[in-house]
Parts: sequence; C-alpha cells; structure tokens
Amino acid sequence: MAAPKIVVFAGSIRTGSINEKLARAAARSLAAAGAEVTHISLRDYPLPLFDAELQARDGVPDSARRLVDLFLEHQGAFVASPEYNASFTPLLKNAFDWMSRINIEGRPPLPAFKQRVFALGAVSNGALGGYRGLTQLRAMMELGLGALVLPDMVAVGNAAEAFSEDGGLTAPRTSAFLDEVVRKLVHHAGALA
Ligand SMILES: Cc1cc2nc3c(=O)[nH]c(=O)nc-3n(C[C@H](O)[C@H](O)[C@H](O)COP(=O)(O)O)c2cc1C
Repeated sequence: MAAPKIVVFAGSIRTGSINEKLARAAARSLAAAGAEVTHISLRDYPLPLFDAELQARDGVPDSARRLVDLFLEHQGAFVASPEYNASFTPLLKNAFDWMSRINIEGRPPLPAFKQRVFALGAVSNGALGGYRGLTQLRAMMELGLGALVLPDMVAVGNAAEAFSEDGGLTAPRTSAFLDEVVRKLVHHAGALA
C-alpha cells in the first residue's frame, strides 16, 4: 500500500509561533509513522480577507486554488491552531472560507475537505492548551466543511516548558499522545489512499 500523504500546517504565520513548533513535532512523528509529509506555511498562500464582492469581481484567489489542489493530492492533514478568544485564528477561517468557494466539475462540493481526514492540535501558554479553540475548529470543519475530524485532539499547555531543544514535546504522556493521534491519522488516511 502506498504511504498516505499528509499535509501539515499551523494556523499561525508568526515568527516563533508555538503552534508551528507543534506542526514540526507532528510532521516528524508522521514521517516516523510512515506517512509522506508535506509541511507548509500559510505565509506562502497569502489571501485577502474574504469578501463576496471581491470574489464576484476577481474570482477566487490563486492561493486558495493552490491550497485546494494541495489538499486534493493528500488524504489527510494535521492542523496546529492557536486559540484566539476561545476560538481559532482568522487566518485559518479565512483560508478555509476561500477554499470552500471552489467547486470542481464532476465532484461534490467542498472537494478539499470531504473524503479527507484531519487531526487537530493546539499549543497555548495557558493550562488548557488551546482546547476550547479546537472545539470551535472541529465544529466548523465537521458541520461547515464536511470534514472527518479525529475525536482525539492534542492540546499542549504551558508552552514555555512544552518543547525540548530538539523540538520534541517534553512531557512523555503528551508526546506519546501526539504519536497515538498521528498513528490514527495515518491509519485512516491510509484507508483513503
Ligand atoms: C487575539 C488573541 C486572542 C487570544 N486568546 C487566547 C485564548 O483564548 N486562550 C489562550 O490560551 N491564548 C490566547 N491568546 C494567546 C495565544 O495563545 C498566543 O499569542 C500564542 O502564542 C499564539 O499562537 P502562535 O504562537 O502559534 O502564534 C490570544 C492571542 C491573541 C492575539
């Protein structure tokens, strides 16, 4: 069986992003679990704030089309999302909103999300590790985008102590949990490969 292809990215483009650190740890774990990993930054897919008039005038921006094409080449994704006011980032919402405007002839709507499996993680300086934001992200992805989202979500609190020098997660239980979620992602994505 071909290795499942998984795209990994953070919902932050901030230099020094703690969620980008989690994306890196997840990418490493995914590669160890046998996935073919594509680690991207949303910085390379700049998008204006969604505006229906802009879409009517200019169409969907090229970055959104490139993201949809990328998702179509993969069976799954790991998304590491910061928590903003108990929700997820506008960067992520905007990217997914633009992507949701793309239809492909002969395919059902939301081609980038349906028939694909997603795992979610978050890092925050607080004790809850961004978990509240992940519940909102899950709801949007499942209810709005029709995505299959794994029930387990990797919430990493106390960010300042969360990562070791080599980029791994310092807490053995959290590190083992990330590996477990990653294995599930690879397993389910493998069934779609
Ligand atoms: C607008 C805004 C709202 C935030 N709300 C929360 C929050 O609800 N819970 C939390 O734990 N951290 C919150 N934070 C702090 C972020 O978790 C912190 O800035 C984190 O470093 C962002 O992730 P990043 O490093 O990957 O960019 C908020 C930050 C911003 C800018």
